[in-house]
Order: sequence, then structure tokens, then C-alpha cells
Amino acid sequence: MSALDPVSIIVAKRDGGVLSTEQIRTVLDGFTRGDVAPEQMAALAMAILQRGMNRREIADWTAAMVASGTRMDLSGLTRNGTSLRTVDKHSTGGVGDKITLPLTPLIASYGLAVPQLSGRGLGHTGGTLDKLEAIPGWRATLTPGELREQLESVGAVVCAASDDLAPADRKLYALRDVTGTVPSIPLIASSIMSKKIAEGTQALVLDVKAGSGAFMTSYDDAAVLARTMVDLGTDAGVHTVALLTDMSVPLGRSAGNALEVAESVEVLAGGGPGDVVELTLALAREMLAAGGLPDVDPADHLAGGQAMDAWRAMIAAQGGDPDADLPQAAHRQVVAAPESGWLAHLDALAVGLAAWELGAGRSTPGAAVSAGAGVTWHAGIGDPVTKGAPLLTLHADDPSRFDRALERLAGAVTVSRTETAPAPTRVRGRIA
Ligand code: URA
Repeated sequence: MSALDPVSIIVAKRDGGVLSTEQIRTVLDGFTRGDVAPEQMAALAMAILQRGMNRREIADWTAAMVASGTRMDLSGLTRNGTSLRTVDKHSTGGVGDKITLPLTPLIASYGLAVPQLSGRGLGHTGGTLDKLEAIPGWRATLTPGELREQLESVGAVVCAASDDLAPADRKLYALRDVTGTVPSIPLIASSIMSKKIAEGTQALVLDVKAGSGAFMTSYDDAAVLARTMVDLGTDAGVHTVALLTDMSVPLGRSAGNALEVAESVEVLAGGGPGDVVELTLALAREMLAAGGLPDVDPADHLAGGQAMDAWRAMIAAQGGDPDADLPQAAHRQVVAAPESGWLAHLDALAVGLAAWELGAGRSTPGAAVSAGAGVTWHAGIGDPVTKGAPLLTLHADDPSRFDRALERLAGAVTVSRTETAPAPTRVRGRIA
């Protein structure tokens, strides 16, 4: 059997070997074309999860996934005769993570172009497109020409990635999802970075999350993931920086599509929950610096309304009505605080799973989501709470979903009888 035969490649990795550039190219090319069977790719993914890959293998794997489709060319974007720099952000995903919504127009308001090619959610972390689709009229699909035109006119685009962007990753991710092979640092890093490299952004800021609501529950693993992605981006010529941020408690005060749009609009209006503002500004500072504006204070355009103007233009450019009422779920159920004291913990994973049970997320690709469903919480970590007063509100179109959501929330809330320190800041580290 040749060393390039899929079985030889699986066996080599199963036994702890290092795959050659040619082996990696051959197997991913064959998989994209349908010559390598899904069960063979699943076995290889499991061998990679167990045995890992070195830096050269991960770079080759990523390059082969980029080469499986079209690499977009965003060079030559201009506005009023001046060339535009492209800067994007990617989060590894978390509960209540709506940061893309205020961040993208905020950065565009400073004259940079943000090409956010996003996905839909699967499982307990929401998808950015699902959130924006809660806005009446907004459409996620743009042609490449429309994408360029909007980047030049508005500077901010959030839209669906085309089927031709790293198709090997799309096919592989669907397989990993049903074979227990998602939580592999080489596979996650190459999956995320192949799409960002193929998208053609010049600079990228990564928000790598750690905690119960994230892929990586420990900071050590999140730091390895961040380092791997920063190296992949840098080696591919994309200026890449990562922040390590906390996802043990959910972000802001809501998880759910329309609920998170409403919270993002509060941030754009100069208000909103402190942790959402903090993380938006921390990521904005990194993006502005990467785009050549290191001395700008992004808080100015939240306070001054320029970020809100860019949001309205971004939503309207994709057919959305920024003034329309957002959908609301037909039913609500309030959960009262079990004790009086101070909110010491609210588990991110439990809240994410509850929002998913309420209809905000999907369990199979392509399934519909409820725009109004989700969870809101009425206190942040460190805030005083009173026994019997509303602590959480559950929102659902179908009231039979409340019981399953309540089961997910069992044990999720800790109330301390002594005053607890407020939640520490979200940003815990930086990797460049
Ligand atoms: N997001 C991705 O795009 N890929 C992964 O493997 C995990 C999260």
C-alpha cells in the first residue's frame, strides 16, 4: 500500500507518526472530492484528536483546507480614493457572546473595513447570523460583489460565508460534530484559521474563551489554542493577535437571538452591561491597533453615536430595518432568587443549554430557531439579590419548553450570604 493511501495515513497517525505535507494534501483533497470515505476521515480525525499534530502538520492541514476552495481577494478596497485596511475578529464562541454586533460597526466607524463572514449556531452557543436574522428584513447572503461594495460604502459587513470558502472544513466539521472529534486543538485551530485566511482579511483579532460555556474549559488549553491560531495566522501573512477571555459566566444579561440584538443596541447607544462594554472596547483597541490606529479610544464612538450610525447603515444595507420592533417570545416564566444575598455564580453552560432548550439554538444543522426565545438574568456577579424577587426570565414560543430549561438551570445559580467581589474583568491574557 502506498504512503498516500488513506488507510496508510490513518495508520501512521494512529501509531503516533508525523504526516508529510503530501499525505495531508492528498487526504484532504480526496475527502473534498469524495474519494476519501467519511468513515476514513472520521478515523483520521479521531487519530489526530488522540495523537495531536506538530506545528508544520497543522500549518499544512490549514493550507490544504484553504486550498480546497476559493481564497477571497479583499485587496484594493478604497473609499474616497483612500485604500481601506481590513480587520476582522473571531470568537471561539460563548454564551451571550453578542460582541460582533456592536464591535463590527464600532470599528467601521473609524474608517476600517470589517469583513465578518459568520456562521449559524449549533448547540448551546448562538450564531451571529441567527441573532441578526431576528431583525425584520435583514438578509445574511451577499454576493462577493455586494460584499466588496458594502465594505467600501459602510465598512461593516456581517454575512454568511459562501459554500466555496474552505469547503473541506465545512465537510469535516459536520463529521467531527457527530464523531466526538470537535475538541482537538489542531482541528479547531485549523478549522477557524482556514476560514479566516481564505476570507482574505489583512488583520485578525481572536477572542479565545475559557470556562464552562466555552470549547476550552481551562485557561491552559485556551492559551495553547490561542498560540496555535496566532502562529497559523502569522505564518499565513495575516497580522493575528488573541485575547484570552472568561466564559465561566455568560456575557451581559441575555442569551437568545433578538434579546442579544436588543442588548447590543443598548451598547451602541452608550449604555449596556459593563462586561459587554469592557470586552467590546478591549477587542476594539486591538483591532484599531492592528488597523494602524493604536492611539484611538473606541469609547468615544460609542458615546458620540458614530458606532450607532454605522450599525444602522450596516443593517439597512442588508435589507434590515434598524427601527423595527424586535420579535418577542409568546411566553415568559420568571425564576425567583432562591436566597437573599449576593449573586456569586451563574453557570455559562447551564444558561446556554437553557436558551437552547427554549428554542434559541438548533440541534441539527439547518433547523429553524426562535428569534424571541432565550434567557435574561436580572443581576450580574456581585450584585445583591432578594429571595423571591425575579432573578431570571425564560422566554419561549412554546411553554412546554420551560420545564426542560429549568432542569438545565438546576444548580446553575449560587447566592452567597456574604458580600462577594464583583466579577473580575473578562480579559485574562493576550497572545501575539
Ligand atoms: N469553530 C469552528 O469554526 N471550528 C471548530 O472546529 C470549532 C469552532
